[in-house]
Amino acid sequence: MEIISEIKRLKAEKNALILAHNYQDISILEVADFTGDSLQLSIRAREVETGIIVFCGVRFMAETAAVLNPRAKVLLPVADAGCPMADMITAEELRVLKSKYPGAVVVCYVNSTLEVKAESDICCTSSNAVRVIRSIPPDQQIIFVPDQNLGSWAALQTGREMIIHSGYCVVHQWGFTLGDVKRMRDKYPEHKLIAHPECTNAILQNADEVMSTSGMMAYAQDQDKLIFATEVGLIDYLNHLHPGKSLVALSHRAICKNMKKTHLKDVLSALQQERHHVKPEAGIAAKALCCLERMLAL
Ligand code: 13P
Ligand code: SF4
Repeated sequence: MEIISEIKRLKAEKNALILAHNYQDISILEVADFTGDSLQLSIRAREVETGIIVFCGVRFMAETAAVLNPRAKVLLPVADAGCPMADMITAEELRVLKSKYPGAVVVCYVNSTLEVKAESDICCTSSNAVRVIRSIPPDQQIIFVPDQNLGSWAALQTGREMIIHSGYCVVHQWGFTLGDVKRMRDKYPEHKLIAHPECTNAILQNADEVMSTSGMMAYAQDQDKLIFATEVGLIDYLNHLHPGKSLVALSHRAICKNMKKTHLKDVLSALQQERHHVKPEAGIAAKALCCLERMLAL
């Protein structure tokens, strides 16, 4: 309680806001001013008029916020909270790929470094990937980086052939098996299975619905019996918000260690010391901004 009241005091004193991704620990989500998925948090970060944004999530999210809102000082409470998928392709690797397919439009998932965004034409998130792909003229080739699962799923939804990089989310790739699907479907025959598009094609083919984390939050408002194929933090949060419902995890192996690195004491230290300031290099930030703005314009 002492930490929470000190965080609140410092927030007011320093004109700071806390943004937190849906996978964060409940203690963080409760102290946050805004919670959401990657797209919602990007939009919030861009529009807030505040001196400091404390971004509780992983590095690519804080970098995106810093590019979208250069007026604010963006702090990442834990400096090494990263996303392994974002590091699965480098800007140099993307340049090589682009040279093989000159003229192709490059769509990059927001789970990527700023350098990769700077080399890409348009960004997307799990909630708008299909819409972004549909906005590209049918006669244009598309390169999609870095998530092979989101890329394949968006290709299937749009009927577009794409050159898809081989990156993946370690949590969604290895966290679920078809054995989990069978076991949980047998145990909960009336429940719908809701999957995040970072899951493998095998899991997505067996899901009743595929959606982003904020899509899941909204879906659970009206449904009582759901199985979720996503990171367990979101399911913990949903159960905290809706204690009377039966909202269960497809597997408890799906834990994002990076999302779990941030604790209240780190948020407090970030505010006290204004530490781990995310400062994108100006040239990269300007190019990454174009890629993000094209997505937001849609
Ligand atoms: P959302 O944008 O759906 O919240 O997904 C972000 C993420 O990193 C999922 O692993
Ligand atoms: Fe990255 Fe996967 Fe963690 Fe999301 S859940 S931040 S994609 S490692």
